[in-house]
Amino acid sequence: MSTTHAQNGASDIEITPLALGGNVFGWTADREESFRVLDAFVAGGGDFLDTADGYSRWAPGNGGGESETIIGEWLAARGGRDRVTIATKVSTHPQFSGLSGANVKAAAEASLQRLQTDRIDLYYAHFDDAETPLEETVVSFSELVDEGKVLAIAVSNYTAERIDEWFRIGRAGGHHLPIALQPHYNLVERDFETNGLRDVAEREDLAVFPYFSLAKGFLAGKYRDASDASAANASPRAEDASSYLDDRGRAVLAALDEVAGAHDVELASVSLAWLRQQPTIAAPIASARTTSQLSALLASLELELTPAEIERLSTAAASA
Ligand SMILES: NC(=O)c1ccc[n+]([C@@H]2O[C@H](COP(=O)([O-])OP(=O)(O)OC[C@H]3O[C@@H](n4cnc5c(N)ncnc54)[C@H](OP(=O)(O)O)[C@@H]3O)[C@@H](O)[C@H]2O)c1
Repeated sequence: MSTTHAQNGASDIEITPLALGGNVFGWTADREESFRVLDAFVAGGGDFLDTADGYSRWAPGNGGGESETIIGEWLAARGGRDRVTIATKVSTHPQFSGLSGANVKAAAEASLQRLQTDRIDLYYAHFDDAETPLEETVVSFSELVDEGKVLAIAVSNYTAERIDEWFRIGRAGGHHLPIALQPHYNLVERDFETNGLRDVAEREDLAVFPYFSLAKGFLAGKYRDASDASAANASPRAEDASSYLDDRGRAVLAALDEVAGAHDVELASVSLAWLRQQPTIAAPIASARTTSQLSALLASLELELTPAEIERLSTAAASA
C-alpha cells in the first residue's frame, strides 16, 4: 500500500492516503460502534484520523468535543499513539469559538486533553475568522508548533486570497507555515478546481485533504430514488445527501456503476479513488458509520483507475 507525504519546512507527515472522518463519532456512530470502526480502520492499514473540537455538537444532547473524546478513549484503551496521525481543528466548539490567539491556545489545550495525547499532528484553522486580525491567528498557530503541542499547521474553508495572505504574513514574520489544506471537494462538488484553491495548493506545495469525499453518502450510490431518503430507517444525513439526485447526479451514478462493475467494487471505492487520483490530492477524507461501510473505503486504497475511467467520471459530472 502506498503512502503519501506532506512536508513543509521542518514538519513531515507520512500517511496511508485515506483519512477516516470523525464527524460521525458521537453522532451516527455511538462509542462502541466508533471503537469498532477505528479498530477496523487501523487493522485495514489506515493511520490518519480527521476530527475537530466542534464535532459532533449538532447531535441532540451533545455540546461539542464528543468525537475527540471518543478518539481519546479509544487511544487510551488500545495504546499505540504513534500508529496514527491525528488531525483536529479549532473555531467551531461552542466554548472555543473563532481564531483569536487566546482562543486557539485554549482550544488546543482542551483538544489535547480530550484526545488524551501530548501533541496534535496536524492542527487546522477550521473556518476563517474575519473578526480576528489574521496575523494574530498565524502567530498563535506558529507558537503552538514551537511549544511542541502541534507538529504541523493546516487550513480549511479559507479562500485562496486569504491563504496567500497567511503565507505572506507567515513569511514576513518567520513563522511556521501551513502544510495542508482541507477544502470541500468531490466528484459532484468541483469548485476547488477553478476557485483558485488548487492553484494555491500547487504554488505552496500544500497536501490537500478534501472533505465530504462521498458527498455525505450520495457518492456511495444509496440514493437512487426520492423514497430512499424518506424511508423510515433513513440516515439523519439522507436529506442532505439525496439533494444531489438530479439529472447530473443520475449521470454520475451511471458512470460510477459502470466503473465499479468493471472492477467489481462498490461505488464508494470508485468515488474515493477518483478523488485520490486528482492533482494535489494527498488523501480523501471519508467517514463510515459501521465497519461494513468502512470496507468500501479501505478497498479504495487498492483501486487505481485508468485515465479513461477518470475521464468518464469527470465528464459525467460535468454534464448538466
Ligand atoms: N473541514 C470541514 O469543514 C469539514 C466539513 C465536513 C466534513 N469534514 C470532515 O470530512 C469527513 C468526511 O465527511 P462526512 O463524513 O461528513 O461525509 P462523507 O465522507 O462524504 O460521507 C460519509 C457518509 O456516507 C455514508 N457512507 C460511508 N460509506 C458508505 C458505504 N460504503 N455505503 C453506503 N454509505 C456509506 C455514511 O452515511 P450514513 O450514516 O448516512 O450511512 C457516512 O457517514 C468528516 O467526518 C470530517 O472529518 C470536514
